[in-house]
Amino acid sequence: MSDIIYVLDFGSQYSHLITRRIREAGVLAELVAPDFPISKLEQGKGIIFSGGPQNLSEKGALRVDKRVFDLGIPILGICYGMQLTAFMLKGKVKAGKKSEYGSTEIIVKKTGKILKGLSLKQITWMSHGDQVVKMPKGFVNIANSKNCPIAGMENAKRKIYCLQFHPEVKHTAGGKTILENFIKITKVKRNWSMQNFISISIKNIRALIGNDRAVCALSGGIDSAVAATMVYKAIGKNLTCIYVDTGLMRAGETEQIIKTFKQYQKINLYVINARKQFINKLKGITDPERKRKIIGELFIRIFEKESKKLGKVQWLVQGTLYPDTIESSKGVGKHAAVIKSHHNAGGLPEKINFKLLEPLRELYKDEVRKVGKLLNLPDNLTSRQPFPGPGLAIRIVGEVTAEKLELVRKADKIICDEIELAKADTQQYLAVLLPIRSVGVQGDARTYGHPIVVRAVTTADLMTAHWAKLNYALLEKISTRITNEVKGINRVVYDITSKPPGTVEWE
Ligand code: XMP
Repeated sequence: MSDIIYVLDFGSQYSHLITRRIREAGVLAELVAPDFPISKLEQGKGIIFSGGPQNLSEKGALRVDKRVFDLGIPILGICYGMQLTAFMLKGKVKAGKKSEYGSTEIIVKKTGKILKGLSLKQITWMSHGDQVVKMPKGFVNIANSKNCPIAGMENAKRKIYCLQFHPEVKHTAGGKTILENFIKITKVKRNWSMQNFISISIKNIRALIGNDRAVCALSGGIDSAVAATMVYKAIGKNLTCIYVDTGLMRAGETEQIIKTFKQYQKINLYVINARKQFINKLKGITDPERKRKIIGELFIRIFEKESKKLGKVQWLVQGTLYPDTIESSKGVGKHAAVIKSHHNAGGLPEKINFKLLEPLRELYKDEVRKVGKLLNLPDNLTSRQPFPGPGLAIRIVGEVTAEKLELVRKADKIICDEIELAKADTQQYLAVLLPIRSVGVQGDARTYGHPIVVRAVTTADLMTAHWAKLNYALLEKISTRITNEVKGINRVVYDITSKPPGTVEWE
């Protein structure tokens, strides 16, 4: 077990960022609920209280076990975390005369230990209505802003440090220095690296699984690919991978999976051609949610059937990532409204009696990409853009047919090739086929074809996204190629909707 810093999540949209920044500094950090047991907290080297959307005066406002302040472990309270500290140690918190949102200048009154290395004036990121108006006993005021006289306070003796602003956000220029200062105060060991992670995990998987057998559903995406490769390194031939070819993949994807896993790594891989089954099941279906359900269920049914043929298999390998585990656990993170029912290839078939092996459950996506690179997976896999479990089916508005799949697949390939060639700034880019038709003219003749929508977004986390400002020359090239090369398409439109209000996919 590495040394660890615990981040108590009070619901701020930046809680994940704190954890990531600490990890980027080579220290293991974990996001936990505010009621995480004190017996576990005391095993940490440092504790950070995140910000949060609540006001301390409101009913049900989150608190923390008071004993945490007496553990002698360094504490950093951020925003709500600062107010909570003040409140619980008998200071005073009140609504400020003015709220502070966005870039705000602070004056460093005393650098102390936590602001060490910072100059007098600092630009910080603020997002608060309440503020501390009276510090608890033993604290000194280390910073103020125009509307917030106590924008930071510390009690070096008790090793408690508090900031009203957010050091984890890039807009806080000195944020990295501040988090570094905190890490130094905790004296935590910096032993979080992806290389370490790989060697420890492989050893642990080997010890856990012994001579048992494991099965993994490869989806074509990076998560299941990296998870499978790690397990393969640990148990070799005792791992079998199953790839269900739904016929809903992008151009060349199935071939690439076979090449990467079967030929290059020599992993046991069964490729199941289920194209017909998927097309048949989708016949006449136009409702997006029905499509998603049908695809998800059929996938699981096929996976169950095929894995039963393997004989006795005790373990199911899944590429679950850290944010997935957090979103589904109570107390940490928020339960988002169901906008779309997501299906991930490799989603757990509930009825099967497997033990679950999730080697990536501590990692963020960018960490998984690093692990993939260190495991020598090809670049086009480790830097691949996201692709939804239901595949191209949700990029055909209306009924899915084999012909329409071909159209959208060809258009998608052109978009991908051109955007990658131009190295355009977009993290996800795709084609959508619409069921309507419009009149056009090609080679002096009238056409009556379908339009293709080009969708490209810039985004950090896919939760929100901006439409990408692709340049006109690139858009023109894409449009010309699609209308010339994809027979049946006579019009190309560009989607200029951000998320919200749109989503990335059209269904
Ligand atoms: P939306 O359309 O909700 O998509 O803005 C956000 C991100 O999620 C991907 N997506 C999915 N991924 N299974 C997945 O594994 C799904 O069912 C699914 N639906 C959408 C989408 O491609 C985008 O990256």
